[in-house]
Amino acid sequence: MKKVFNISFLVMLLVGSLTLFSTSCKTSSDSSFKKRVARGKELYDSYCKACHGKTGDGPLANELKTTPPDLTKISARRNSTSFPVLEIAQYIDGRKDVKTHGTREMPVWGDELKVKENLDNEKALQGKIGDLLAYLESIQE
Ligand code: HEC
Repeated sequence: MKKVFNISFLVMLLVGSLTLFSTSCKTSSDSSFKKRVARGKELYDSYCKACHGKTGDGPLANELKTTPPDLTKISARRNSTSFPVLEIAQYIDGRKDVKTHGTREMPVWGDELKVKENLDNEKALQGKIGDLLAYLESIQE
């Protein structure tokens, strides 16, 4: 009895938050995306610029074994017309794939940016990581 209640409660929560999210998208599309891009740029400038610069050759580029990739070409490198939101979210978060990445030189940001959201669900990406992704998406060439 208790279990059934818990599951349906969870489903209700999930449906509820997804509905909220999609309505907020519908009503605010353009201007809210711009706001996210602006907030994301601020985060980018304080956390990422030192390595990635504007074109991937930031001030620290020569100090690292791996040259930081040009973040305006994330989509182009993948021959993709759409921005790979989930892949990049998980990459920046980094807590999951430090091991598989072997000699990752880029810092793990999940703790620093206090990423709490569900990184498996594109729609649920909000907060700082969502803002950063909006900014990165906006600079794709
Ligand atoms: C200390 C330098 C450094 C900092 C700071 C840094 N990066 Fe990186 N980043 C790298 C390097 C080097 C790579 C290449 C892969 C590796 O060695 O980990 C990379 C790879 C990436 C990739 C993968 C690109 C692709 O096409 O696969 C993304 C996305 C990225 N960084 C985003 C960010 C964001 C967003 C921030 C700020 C929150 C950030 N990086 C901060 C050095 C850095």
